Amino acid sequence: MKITIIGTGYVGLVSGICFASLGHDVACIDKDESKINTLNQGEIPIYEPGLKEMLAKCVETQKITFSTDLKSALNGSKAVFIAVGTPQDQDGSADLSYVLSAAKEITEIAPNPCLIVTKSTVPVGTAAKIKAIASEKGFLVASNPEFLREGNAIQDFMEPDRIVIGVDNEESDAILSEIYAKFPAQKLVKTDTKTAELTKYAANSFLATKISFINEIADLCQETGADIKKLAHAIGLDSRIGEKFLNPGPGFGGSCFPKDILAITSIASDHNVNLSLINSVIASNKTRQADIANKIAANLAPNAIIALLGLAFKANTDDIRYSPALNIAQNLLQKGLKIKATDPQAIKNAQNHLKNAQNIEFYPDFYDAIAGSDLILIATEWQDYQNLDFNKVKTLTDARKIVDLRNLFDAKFVENHGFEYDFIGKKHD
Ligand code: UDX
Repeated sequence: MKITIIGTGYVGLVSGICFASLGHDVACIDKDESKINTLNQGEIPIYEPGLKEMLAKCVETQKITFSTDLKSALNGSKAVFIAVGTPQDQDGSADLSYVLSAAKEITEIAPNPCLIVTKSTVPVGTAAKIKAIASEKGFLVASNPEFLREGNAIQDFMEPDRIVIGVDNEESDAILSEIYAKFPAQKLVKTDTKTAELTKYAANSFLATKISFINEIADLCQETGADIKKLAHAIGLDSRIGEKFLNPGPGFGGSCFPKDILAITSIASDHNVNLSLINSVIASNKTRQADIANKIAANLAPNAIIALLGLAFKANTDDIRYSPALNIAQNLLQKGLKIKATDPQAIKNAQNHLKNAQNIEFYPDFYDAIAGSDLILIATEWQDYQNLDFNKVKTLTDARKIVDLRNLFDAKFVENHGFEYDFIGKKHD
């Protein structure tokens, strides 16, 4: 089937390439000409493991095109997925302007009515708003939220736990069922559009809550002397809890959780519902990075140099949106500390974000960042850092303290190499 994807960001691009690899004819559209040019040269404007290779295959089989011309892309399309940004508005609600203007443009220039599908994370009732623009012209509207984790997006698309499709009539159901025909039928969870829209927010809010929960339990371990790693394992074995998303850290970041938990509380207050639990998750996560920065700075000389290992909001991505590493870095810089920062993928994005910052230097090789530092701070759980050669580190710096916000190591192993090892949940004597 020919389908169109509007938006070639983390979600639109992965979805378009995966749909094409499943045999659909996919026309990807973006207003950003430089992005489209990059894609037409076979390059990927984001870091997503395996995506470049997958794109090459789809180009070879001529199953995917990239263009800024929506009209031609809509020609012959049975479905058009809107995968544009829904950034956070001042009041925390989701800014729908890009979604609604894309929907309006579709209804104005599509040669024939087709199915409009929201792939972007959108507030409850967005499908109804699009219907108000589109249905009188014969367009159908559905919701198909994504559950893709950056750095794991291809697997999350191709091996989903479920595919949620919000449809309000048989024809929309038939079109989306055909699009996902290559997946096991039992993976398809069919709901109405409102339920599909809220499912996405509820899923992300639950995951954010689970992370904040283990982070706070780690704080309790820190004061009681309990072992957070063993505790997380022990509770995770309960099938009602599950072992995933119980890794304590510097708080959650990324383009979704921080935005979506604000959006769902905004939706709730619009309906006079008080999501007190999710509001407490927002508060808990908000203070975490500042608290960590304060603790680090309290034990350092005023102009100490910190080797910051990791800038991305998590490993296997170049994305720095709401990155805890970056928030902590900015906090430490404001305290007058100096930073030698490194990251395998996110340096360029971080440099753009911190372009006016003083006292921070960037090093592609993390040993160069470590050289001459007074403290080693691990903020992102890159595989490279898990192979840190402690003997080599000792030749590069007199620093003998490591603060690990991702609990990458066994404490005894690090201490046996002559380092003081601070980690999330460690009891301080
Ligand atoms: C998330 C959802 O997982 C995905 O389903 C949705 O479609 C988009 O938002 P993503 O933001 O890419 O995906 O990253 P994810 O792997 O979920 O991590 C989000 C944040 O939680 C990161 O800052 C990560 O470091 C943190 N995290 C995750 C933890 O601190 N501990 C964990 O155990 C897991």
